[in-house]
Amino acid sequence: MVTVRSFLLTLNVIFLTQPYNFSESATAECTLTGNSLENLSSILTTCKEISIANLQVPANETLALHAQNDSIITFEGNITFGYNERTGFLMTIRGNNITVVGAPGHLLDGGGARWWDGLGGNGGKRKPYFVQLRLKNSLLIGLNVKNTPKHCFRIYYSEDVILTDITYNNLDGDTQGGHNTDAFGISNSKNITITNCIVFNQDDCIAIMSGSGHVITNNFCYGGHGISIGSVGGRDNNVVKNIFIKNNTVVNSENGIRIKTNYNTTGIVTNVTFDDITIENITDYGFLIRGDYLNSGPTGNPTRGFELSHLNFRNIHGTVQSGGTNVYVLLSNGVASNWTAEDIKIVGGLKKDVQCLGIPSDCGLSCKDHNGGPSQYLSLFLLSTLIFLIVLR
Ligand SMILES: *[C@@H]1O[C@H](CO)[C@@H](O)[C@H](O)[C@H]1NC(C)=O
Ligand SMILES: *[C@@H]1O[C@H](CO)[C@@H](O)[C@H](O)[C@H]1NC(C)=O
Ligand SMILES: *[C@@H]1O[C@H](CO)[C@@H](O)[C@H](O)[C@H]1NC(C)=O
Ligand SMILES: *[C@@H]1O[C@H](CO)[C@@H](O)[C@H](O)[C@H]1NC(C)=O
Ligand SMILES: *[C@@H]1O[C@H](CO)[C@@H](O)[C@H](O)[C@H]1NC(C)=O
Ligand SMILES: *[C@@H]1O[C@H](CO)[C@@H](O)[C@H](O)[C@H]1NC(C)=O
Ligand SMILES: *[C@@H]1O[C@H](CO)[C@@H](O)[C@H](O)[C@H]1NC(C)=O
Ligand SMILES: *[C@@H]1O[C@H](CO)[C@@H](O)[C@H](O)[C@H]1NC(C)=O
Ligand SMILES: *[C@@H]1O[C@H](CO)[C@@H](O)[C@H](O)[C@H]1NC(C)=O
Ligand SMILES: *[C@@H]1O[C@H](CO)[C@@H](O)[C@H](O)[C@H]1NC(C)=O
Ligand SMILES: *[C@@H]1O[C@H](CO)[C@@H](O)[C@H](O)[C@H]1NC(C)=O
Ligand SMILES: *[C@@H]1O[C@H](CO)[C@@H](O)[C@H](O)[C@H]1NC(C)=O
Repeated sequence: MVTVRSFLLTLNVIFLTQPYNFSESATAECTLTGNSLENLSSILTTCKEISIANLQVPANETLALHAQNDSIITFEGNITFGYNERTGFLMTIRGNNITVVGAPGHLLDGGGARWWDGLGGNGGKRKPYFVQLRLKNSLLIGLNVKNTPKHCFRIYYSEDVILTDITYNNLDGDTQGGHNTDAFGISNSKNITITNCIVFNQDDCIAIMSGSGHVITNNFCYGGHGISIGSVGGRDNNVVKNIFIKNNTVVNSENGIRIKTNYNTTGIVTNVTFDDITIENITDYGFLIRGDYLNSGPTGNPTRGFELSHLNFRNIHGTVQSGGTNVYVLLSNGVASNWTAEDIKIVGGLKKDVQCLGIPSDCGLSCKDHNGGPSQYLSLFLLSTLIFLIVLR
């Protein structure tokens, strides 16, 4: 059984075995430390090896790391942020060919509990996002983020970026009112890779709203809403294509994997592969695709404005709690085409009479093979008894 403890241990192993060579260290003039951003702009214009070390970012300010091409930014020690109710971002990172490294033992501590009120982005205190990335040809490695006010990584207008060996530990939010603490949100971007990351949060582990060429591999997600395409629709870019999602684990979460398109909007989701996904102890839906999404609650009426084509599902397995649903698809007829599904083995959800709508007829995915709890085993038993009797005759 997967436990928080064993994954916190894995987390330490990842930090100790990180391949990055930390010996290059910024000089004192290129180090931002203390409790002021006063020297930030001169450091960014004169240095390409920058260290952000034991920094307390003042309340209401944004640590804007808009670096020269080919810069290396290293976080060292404890980076904290002053509190006030505000919107925007606590930090932004922009540039071309930027390497962002977390030195062993560093912590980016968002101090999220000061903002948490159980309402996230839907009301209550005004809360900043944690970090916005606008990067090209860049690498983020070994970052250790804790307790963000709401969403953590917002990736916009970025191309060819790898995020690897990142831990996002928002476990405190489970008991202290963390909400909308999505780990990675990707929009308007191309070729974003998220790999070997560990997430403990209260909303989507990964949410792909738009873009192409994204690769999501070897990640562990705990406590949130699972790995999502979407919600798609109603934004400036509503196309998601050529997405590869493989070898990810989703534990103790609301959903395993899902694709959600917004009610009464238009767009395309095409050529998406989910392969080798392990889910465990999912409360709501193991596998969910719905075309009726609304943030305030799905309408139950999927709309026709989308194409969901060339979706491939392979080896998706694991458990849903008895009160949940193993597999659910709710799409308008004709919206979906050219899907393939093999080795979908999601068990445990006992919700009966689940009616799926809009699954392409010949794709190998059928709602009733997966749902209905004990009756699914009963029908298997009856079928095998029948075959046995026929063989006996
Ligand atoms: C790390 O970098 C330093 C200087 O750039 C180099 O001397 C050293 O060999 C490197 N270590 C490893 C393990 O690559
Ligand atoms: C800014 O840099 C100058 C020169 O290196 C240094 O004397 C000063 O203490 C720095 N200010 C802060 C707030 O770190
Ligand atoms: C916070 O910053 C914003 C924008 O920079 C400004 O409008 C606002 O007055 C600031 N609030 C406080 C409390 O300083
Ligand atoms: C920075 O990199 C971009 C993309 O490679 C390039 O277009 C731009 O000219 C570079 N800027 C400088 C100042 O070298
Ligand atoms: C990217 O930046 C690194 C330094 O971080 C530099 O060694 C490398 O040459 C740069 N790559 C390109 C394509 O400019
Ligand atoms: C980082 O600083 C914050 C605020 O001072 C503190 O609460 C936290 O314990 C520190 N974390 C570490 C790892 O030193
Ligand atoms: C994204 O990756 C694809 C396939 O590797 C490549 O053809 C394309 O040029 C890349 N796009 C960008 C914007 O880097
Ligand atoms: C799958 O991901 C896990 C981390 O979640 C990693 O330990 C394992 O090596 C990966 N397997 C493959 C075949 O890449
Ligand atoms: C479909 O997406 C995969 C990545 O999963 C990519 O390698 C492939 O080229 C895409 N196919 C087409 C026809 O674009
Ligand atoms: C499964 O999730 C529930 C919350 O939905 C939690 O109370 C329970 O401890 C989890 N089981 C395991 C084995 O982690
Ligand atoms: C659908 O959206 C259009 C505008 O895009 C709006 O006029 C219409 O009322 C909406 N229909 C429903 C049922 O929400
Ligand atoms: C689905 O595949 C069939 C043949 O394999 C093709 O004729 C059809 O255009 C495809 N549909 C889409 C939406 O790509």
